Amino acid sequence: MINHPSQVVAVGGASGLIGKALVAKLEQDGHTVRRMVRRPVKDNSEIYWKPSSGEIDDAALNGVDAVVHLGGVGITDQRWTDDFKRQIRDSRVDSTRLLSLTLASLERKPRVHVNASAIGYYGVRGDEEIDESSAGGQGFLADACRDWEAATQPSWESGIRVCQLRIGVVLSPDGGLLASLLKPFRMGLGGVVARGDQYISWIALTDVVAAIQFAIDHDPLHGAVNATAPNPVTNREFTKALGEVLHRPTVLPMPAFAIRAMMGRETADELAIGGAKIYPRRLEAEWFQFACPDIRTALRTVLSERPAEAS
Ligand SMILES: NC(=O)c1ccc[n+]([C@@H]2O[C@H](COP(=O)([O-])OP(=O)(O)OC[C@H]3O[C@@H](n4cnc5c(N)ncnc54)[C@H](OP(=O)(O)O)[C@@H]3O)[C@@H](O)[C@H]2O)c1
Repeated sequence: MINHPSQVVAVGGASGLIGKALVAKLEQDGHTVRRMVRRPVKDNSEIYWKPSSGEIDDAALNGVDAVVHLGGVGITDQRWTDDFKRQIRDSRVDSTRLLSLTLASLERKPRVHVNASAIGYYGVRGDEEIDESSAGGQGFLADACRDWEAATQPSWESGIRVCQLRIGVVLSPDGGLLASLLKPFRMGLGGVVARGDQYISWIALTDVVAAIQFAIDHDPLHGAVNATAPNPVTNREFTKALGEVLHRPTVLPMPAFAIRAMMGRETADELAIGGAKIYPRRLEAEWFQFACPDIRTALRTVLSERPAEAS
C-alpha cells in the first residue's frame, strides 16, 4: 500500500507476470496507472514507447509521480544462442537507458524510478551468504545485469531517486519456475535437480509486488535492493516443500546432464544447476514485512489461488 495518496504511476512491461499483478494492486489501492505500451495507444491511460527504435512519448511522462520498468524479453523463451543473448541484454539495457534519459530530460520529473534487475547480478555463488554489499558475479547474466543497472544512471544523475530491484525467482502458478514445475510434480515426476545443493533465492509474487510498492513509497530506499525472501532454500529443500504442498512424491531426480541437454549448458549452469544464497538486507533494514517469508507459506499461498489444481 502506497502511503502517498493517489499517485500516477507509469509502468513499463505492464503485460508481464509481475507487471500485471502490480498494475492490479496499484489500481486496487486507488492509484492511477499509465501502462507503457509498445504499440499504438488505445487511450490516455497508456503511454507509447518503442525501445527497439528509440521512440518514447516524453510529453506523456511529464508529471507522473513514479515510474516502474519491468520490461525485457523472457530469458527462458528460447535457447541462449548469441543472438538471443543479445536480445535478453539489449531489450533490458536499451529500454532502461531510453526511459532513464527521457525521465532525466523532463521538466516535471517523477519522484522515483524503480527498475527491475535480477539476482543474476551475483552469478553462481555456492553457499556464500550474499547481500547488497556483495560484489557482482561472473557470467552472461551477471554482465547483463551490471549493464542493466548502469542504464539507470541518467535518472539518478538528474536527481530522481532510483531503486534497482534485484528480483529473485518469482513464485507464481502463472509463470516462471513454479508454473513450469507444476505439471511434472503433479504427475509425480518431480525430483531434485543435479546435486540439489544449489540455492534458490525465491520470492512470492505478492511480495515482489509489495516490494515494488514499498520502493515507490519509501524515500530512504535507493540503489540496489534485493527483492528475495529472507529464507533462501536449496533445490533439495524446495523440491521437498513443493512435493509436500502438492501431496506428491518427489523421487525422480533430474541429473545435470539431462537438464543441460534440455536447456543448453550455459542456461542450465546459470539458472538451474548453479545458484546463490541471497538475503534481502536492505528491505529488512527498512522493516519491510514479507507476507511469505518461508517456502511452505509461499507455496501454499500462491497455489491457494488455484485450489482445485493445487491439491
Ligand atoms: N519472474 C521472475 O522470476 C524474475 C526474476 C528476476 C528478474 N525478473 C525481471 O523482472 C522483469 C519482469 O519480470 P516478469 O516475470 O514480469 O517478465 P515477463 O512476464 O517476461 O514480462 C516482461 C515484459 O517485458 C516486455 N517485453 C517483452 N519483450 C520486450 C522487448 N523486446 N523489449 C522491451 N520490453 C519487452 C513485455 O511487456 P509489454 O509488452 O507490456 O511491453 C513483457 O510482458 C523482467 O525484466 C525480468 O527479467 C523476473
